[in-house]
Order: sequence, then C-alpha cells, then structure tokens
Amino acid sequence: MITVKSNEELSIMRKAGKITGDVLKLLEENIKPGISTKDLDRIAEKYIRSHNAFPSFKGYRGYPATLCVSIDDEVVHGIPNDKRYIEEGSIVSIDVGAFFNGFHGDAARTFAVGKISAEKAKLIEVTKQSFFEGIKYAKTGNRIGDIASAIQQYCESFGFSVVRALTGHGIGKAMHEDPEVPNFGKPGHGIRLSANMTLAVEPMINMGKFDVEFLSDGWTVRTKDRLPSAHYENTIVITDGEAEILTL
Ligand code: MF3
Ligand code: CO
Repeated sequence: MITVKSNEELSIMRKAGKITGDVLKLLEENIKPGISTKDLDRIAEKYIRSHNAFPSFKGYRGYPATLCVSIDDEVVHGIPNDKRYIEEGSIVSIDVGAFFNGFHGDAARTFAVGKISAEKAKLIEVTKQSFFEGIKYAKTGNRIGDIASAIQQYCESFGFSVVRALTGHGIGKAMHEDPEVPNFGKPGHGIRLSANMTLAVEPMINMGKFDVEFLSDGWTVRTKDRLPSAHYENTIVITDGEAEILTL
C-alpha cells in the first residue's frame, strides 16, 4: 500500500531528513585514510542519538550497525568493522537512516578518499547526477518508470550499468514502503505519482556489468566483475512541481 503523507507528517520527515543529511556531512569531514569503518559508524550513531533520533538500520532484519559502508567493488550493505580501514584511492559509499518521531530519513553518498582514478571520479559524478536527472520526472501525474528510465538512460550513456537486483522504495513510518523505485525501466510504466508521496530514490551504478553477488556475511553486495560501484540516495517528497529533497 502506498501512503501519502499529511503536512504534519511531512514536517516530521523534514526533521528526520535533515538529521540524515547532516550525518553524511559529518562523515565526509571524518573520512580519511586510516580510520576504521566502525569508527565512522560510532560517529554517526552518536550524532543521530544526540539529535533525539535512532539509527534506522540498526536491528532492521538483524542488521548490526548504524551505517552501511561499501568500499570500491562493494555495491551496498557493507557492515562496519573495527579491522577494516579506509584507504587512499578508494571510493566509499555510505548509507544511513535516521528515525525521528516515528518517521525515517534515508540517504547515501559515495566519497572519494584522497586521490582517486579519473574513471572512479566519473562514476561518482555520473551516479550523483543520475539522481538529479531522475527526479526531474518526480512530480504529480508522472510515473515511476519515468524516473527509472531517466536514471538508466543517463548512466548507460556513459557506459556504466544500473544494478537490477536492488531498488529504491517508498519511505515514511517504515523504512521500506511501497512502491519500489527501480533505477531502470520504461517511460510511462509503473504507478502514477501523487503529491505528498515520499520516496527514497537511490541509483546504484556499476562501472562494469550490472551483475552483483551477495556475500556470505548475509549483507554485503558486491559486483560480480569486481569493478567499482557508486551509490547516491535522497529521500524526496512528490509535489506538483519540483520534488522536495529532504536529506541534502
Ligand atoms: N538504505 C538502505 C535501503 O535503502 C537500507 C539499508 S538495509 C539495512 O534499502 F538493513 F542495512 F538497514
Ligand atoms: Co534506501
């Protein structure tokens, strides 16, 4: 069931979204060679709790941490670890959610660590821009497939591929609500958007082929060809005009 939010609910979601977006800014300042992924997780959890919110992912289907930290060929859902350190030249995707007064925010960025290759830099830039290309179509009366197709066309025009096995989603009282928001599809297909729907739009884009595999830790998703992957996500509100982005 797709839920449409009231104005009161949206004002809470704006606060959840701001906390979520601000965590990512704080992490961007802290991500340096030598810091462990678990240290980043602790920084995020402390920030979220100090803003009277709760880490959305912690305990979700048994997930053990506040963040997902996915490095290079890891696509999403990397589990923070005290013995895993951030290294110069890698790209690091960080996904975080904050649950505030009954509503979730969900957002992700891919950060460059120090000097990275030109192709990795391009992958990060195209992944981010694909989100903005997609949400040009995120308005009342359009369809999910319009967003999905715009993201896909944009990324494929650079020779990158769109992960098929995972999608974005509706969001609100639950972190994952209907509808699914794929990053591939056809214009004019899928459910029609209406005002005050809230969606997490999250392109996951691979430098090589779109195939992924799921690791035996039960969470980490990695590219099959071991080429890098990037992620960019925001929680948005559908309106009659431009989408409102809650997690910038
Ligand atoms: N942000 C992720 C998503 O949109 C959620 C991470 S899954 C979790 O699906 F289990 F780690 F929470
Ligand atoms: Co999400």
